[in-house]
Amino acid sequence: MAFRSYLPPSTEKPRAQVNRLKPSQQLVNALRQHFSLSTWLLVGALLQSLVLFIIPRFYAMLPAILILGARLADSLAITCGWKKNHYLDEAILHRVSPQIPDEDGNFHQEPAEEKVVAFMLGAKVNQPLGLFAPNVKQVGDGLQEMFKDLEANAPENGFLGASVWNSTDKNGATELLYPSYWRSTKDLHDFAYGPVHMKTWDWWNKTIKQNDHIGILHEIFEVDRKSWEAIYVNFQPTLLGATTYLRKGDKMIGGTVDDQWVSPLVDARSGKLRSSAGRLGRDPNELYDKHTLAPGGSYE
Ligand SMILES: *[C@@H]1O[C@H](CO)[C@@H](O)[C@H](O)[C@H]1NC(C)=O
Ligand SMILES: *[C@@H]1O[C@H](CO)[C@@H](O)[C@H](O)[C@H]1NC(C)=O
Repeated sequence: MAFRSYLPPSTEKPRAQVNRLKPSQQLVNALRQHFSLSTWLLVGALLQSLVLFIIPRFYAMLPAILILGARLADSLAITCGWKKNHYLDEAILHRVSPQIPDEDGNFHQEPAEEKVVAFMLGAKVNQPLGLFAPNVKQVGDGLQEMFKDLEANAPENGFLGASVWNSTDKNGATELLYPSYWRSTKDLHDFAYGPVHMKTWDWWNKTIKQNDHIGILHEIFEVDRKSWEAIYVNFQPTLLGATTYLRKGDKMIGGTVDDQWVSPLVDARSGKLRSSAGRLGRDPNELYDKHTLAPGGSYE
C-alpha cells in the first residue's frame, strides 16, 4: 500500500515555512537577532532612566514589574500544568518521517523513492550595524522577493519549500541559513539564471566593492533515491517535513475533485519507517545484526 500523509490535505496552498511569519514579526526577530543582549538591556536602561525624569519613581517601576510578573506567572502556570502549553501547538508527539510524493502528488509504496536536492543558502553581516549596515537591506529585500517568487511558482518550478535559521558567530555577527528543497538541480539552475535571481545577482556584481562585510554562500546536495531519510519526534512540521506537494484534482476536465496540497509527513511509529535503514529503503536487519540493537521505544 502507498504511504499516506499523517496530516489532512488542504485545498489552499500552504505558505512556505520561510514566508510564514508576518513581516512585522520578521522585523522584530531580525532586530532582536542582529544586536546583542547587552545592547538591548542598555537601550531599555536608557529609556527607563528617561522615564524617571517625567514620572515618579514608584510608577516608573510599575510597567516592568507588571510585565515581568505576568510572564513569570505564565511560565509557572505552563510548567505546573495549570495552563495549556502553547509552545506545543501543532507539534506531532510521536515519530513521523517525510516521504516525497511523485510529481503528481501521489505517494510511493516504498520509502525514499524520489531523489531530492537540498540547497543551503547562507548570508551573514560582518558589521556592528547589523541589519542597518550598508546594502544589507538590498540583500534582505532580494531574498524576500526570491522566496515569494519561488512560493508563487511552485510546484512547476521544482521548489518544494524553505525555512530560515539564525545563529550568532563567535564575533557576535548574525548568520542566516536558508535550507530549501528542490525536485532537481536543473530546477535550481533554471531559477538561478531566471529574471528574479538575476536582478539581485546583477546588483551584487555591480556593488561588489562595497560588500566586503556581507557574506554569502551556498551548498548543493543532489541526493539520489534511497539515499536520504529523516525522522521528527515532538516537532511541528519543519524543514523537509514542512514542504508541500500538489495533487491535482480533475476540476479542469469537468470532474468534481479539488486540487489538494499534501504534507509529506507519514506516521513512522511502526513498520518500515521505524528504523534508519528502513527509511532508506534498505534491509533493517543488516543494521540490527551489526549493532545487535532493534529499534526500541526510546524515541517515542
Ligand atoms: C532571522 O533573521 C531574518 C533576517 O534578518 C529574519 O527575517 C527572521 O525573522 C529571523 N528569525 C529569527 C528566528 O530570529
Ligand atoms: C556575476 O559575476 C559572476 C562571477 O564573476 C558571473 O559568473 C556571473 O555571470 C555574474 N552575474 C551577472 C548576473 O552578471
